[in-house]
Amino acid sequence: MRAKVTVVGAGNVGATCALEVARRDYADVVLVDIVKNFPQGKALDMNQAAAVIGFQSTITGTNGYDETEGSEVVVITAGVPRKPGMSRDDLVTTNQNIVASVTKEIVKRSPKAIIIVVSNPLDAMCHVARAISKLPKERVFGMAGILDTARFSAFIAFETGMSIQDVKAMVLGGHGDQMVPVVSATTVGGVPLQQLVPQKKIDAMVERTRKGGGEIVNLLGTSAWYAPGAAAAQMVESIVLDQKRVLPCTAYLEGEYGVKNLYMGVPVVLGASGIEKIVKLTLSADEKKMMKASSAAVADVVKVLKAK
Ligand code: APR
Repeated sequence: MRAKVTVVGAGNVGATCALEVARRDYADVVLVDIVKNFPQGKALDMNQAAAVIGFQSTITGTNGYDETEGSEVVVITAGVPRKPGMSRDDLVTTNQNIVASVTKEIVKRSPKAIIIVVSNPLDAMCHVARAISKLPKERVFGMAGILDTARFSAFIAFETGMSIQDVKAMVLGGHGDQMVPVVSATTVGGVPLQQLVPQKKIDAMVERTRKGGGEIVNLLGTSAWYAPGAAAAQMVESIVLDQKRVLPCTAYLEGEYGVKNLYMGVPVVLGASGIEKIVKLTLSADEKKMMKASSAAVADVVKVLKAK
């Protein structure tokens, strides 16, 4: 039997994630959105794409939550995306209300679900989903690190002319301009990045990664979806197939990496029970400093959340 995965928000990121999950054939997908006919239309289109792509998973579009009952994994992408000139943090109040109401509906029907939050500002929205769902921290976490790492990896591949498949990078911290690309843990084909690219160019790539989301917002007038949708789908896959991949995810930290009671991006083992382990990575003194600054920035946004 296939697993059941719900994606809330049938917009750019949600629809991309839904198709990425469905095409791998291990899960049926329920796609939820508040806009009438919208998720139904997207689901119908995807079910027809199945004939061409060649998968047997089904996608159900709905404006309600009854169809989501018994979902193993729920991806929350509902909310507003940013527009040029906005930071992710500018979305906090609007998306807090949306993520809170969606989480309530989800846990009513799927009390044992694993929730992956994608809506921004990501770290703060994880706090909202956890507070409302009351699920253990291992079952509520966010997608950001895979996306930020993918951006860094793409820039490294452009710069070196080497295959993106051989780039192993790691971007940690909050999903904001203070994120922490861990250069000391970045290699191409096993060779440390610092042996391949001069420091000045690495610094420029780090800066471009930090502003990577904004670069796309400026080009498109709205935020990215192909890489975010694929990144969320990779997390779903590691959970549903119990792959135990080591991926950078936004996890609730209780002292790990010197951060307490805050959601932040760190490497985790992702399997059938959600976050099975937080992997400890030794950071350089500079990287530790950056983690601290990033956690302060996340804490500032969390403070803005209204008590619910
Ligand atoms: N319940 C269900 N769906 C909702 C709700 C709600 N309460 N509120 C909004 N939505 C839906 C919208 O109708 C829309 O279809 O969420 C969808 C969001 O899609 P887009 O506007 O295309 O935004 P997208 O680019 O997918 O980004 C979604 O992910 O990456 C983040 O910053 C991004 O917070 C944003 C989220």
